Amino acid sequence: ADSDPLQDFCIADLNATVIVNGFPCKPASAVTSDDFFFDGLSKEGSTANIFGSSVTRGNVLSFPGVNTLGISMNRVDIAPGGMNAPHWHPRSSESGVVIQGRVLVGFMTTGNVFYSKNLTVGQMFVIPIGLVHFQQNIGEEKALLFTAFNSQNPGSVVASVNLFGSTPSIPNDVLTKAFQVDANVVNGIKSKFESST
Ligand code: GLV
Ligand code: MN
Repeated sequence: ADSDPLQDFCIADLNATVIVNGFPCKPASAVTSDDFFFDGLSKEGSTANIFGSSVTRGNVLSFPGVNTLGISMNRVDIAPGGMNAPHWHPRSSESGVVIQGRVLVGFMTTGNVFYSKNLTVGQMFVIPIGLVHFQQNIGEEKALLFTAFNSQNPGSVVASVNLFGSTPSIPNDVLTKAFQVDANVVNGIKSKFESST
């Protein structure tokens, strides 16, 4: 979903002070082979958190080589019983492939239709841009996926954290009405997500 580059490459200068739609380029004279390679997805992420999952991002912020190219990738580790909680990417579609384990992948459309499938090693999925989706480990062992995006910076909004863990907090009467529950239920959920990421 990102716009096309106007030059071969533009290794992001993350420390530049000018603000553009993306990042300005590092001087070509300072570019080396290492700028086009990234080993951040080689390491397993910690799944010791409330969701039992970890998303390691290879976006422009961690891998400046993707700047202006309209692509990026993530590594998703999910412990048994864990999930990558419902979330959406405002700037990108997503494709993914299961490398290890068994995973339920699902998304909901703007018309609230739920599409899902159980996937195993080598099987691939696609999530259309902006739609809420999740991956749940339905196996006995850990699950590993790699995901790919048509954006250098897809953005990720986790539904539960966004609504119940925002700063400042959303007024309770908005959430009690939206979810048709009492304030004690809203407070209970908020207590799980306050100051979590
Ligand atoms: C998985 O949904 C991801 O965003 O990497
Ligand atoms: Mn996603």
